[in-house]
Amino acid sequence: MKINVHYSNLHFDDLYFSGKTSVVIDILRASTVIVTALANGAREVIPVSTVDFAMKVSGNAFGGQTILSGERNTKKVEGFNLGNSPLEYTPDVVAGKSIILYTTNGSKAIVKAKFSENLFICSFNNLPAVANHLLHLNKDVEIICSGTNGNFNLEDAVCAGRLISEMDKVSTDLEISDSGRASLVLNKSFGKSISKMLKETEHGQLLIENGFGADIKECAQFGTTDLIPYYISGAIKKLETVTAQNNLVNEPKVS
Ligand code: MLT
Repeated sequence: MKINVHYSNLHFDDLYFSGKTSVVIDILRASTVIVTALANGAREVIPVSTVDFAMKVSGNAFGGQTILSGERNTKKVEGFNLGNSPLEYTPDVVAGKSIILYTTNGSKAIVKAKFSENLFICSFNNLPAVANHLLHLNKDVEIICSGTNGNFNLEDAVCAGRLISEMDKVSTDLEISDSGRASLVLNKSFGKSISKMLKETEHGQLLIENGFGADIKECAQFGTTDLIPYYISGAIKKLETVTAQNNLVNEPKVS
């Protein structure tokens, strides 16, 4: 099982991921928001890469069951219903809704990897569940760190390292690329206290300055859910929902 890590979502074209098994990480805060929204009953999250497209999508479909959400420079985009704080995605707000999500890095990284055969979303909240599922699939994995404006960021790289180290604990069959081995070292150095690491990152500092310090505690929660977000046909849904739907479709028809 080959494991490779990309430290930003810019240096590859969309087709690079065709047929591959990919994992997108955007710890602060898109991955955490997606896991939280689905865990709190959202029907799906639709990642988009521009605000204009988000407006267009929300205008056209879903009969009022949509929530327009996302951030620019960490703050809620003007005219949107929600920002990008996981604390906003409570059950009373998101249950049964389709969430159209635009963020500076995370939603764009997901859209970039849309041609993947399998595309999962990983945060610290669901990391052990994602690690186990990847081992179960036993396929080569491309881990995409969303980064910050095309540049490396520490929090996503440490999460990638933690994901690989959780898999490495169980499997002796991992072939880890140099970028993957570097993330293991970063996790060893900075991953001992996730919340301390997040607070000290550049983006963590910016979130604190902008009044989103409470989000860091949410994003630092480790292994608090087994929910695995899975991208299929333009939307991110709970893997278990997609699997159940597929089983229904493939169930032999009683003639
Ligand atoms: C991003 O995609 O860049 C982040 O999620 C931004 C943020 O939430 O501050």
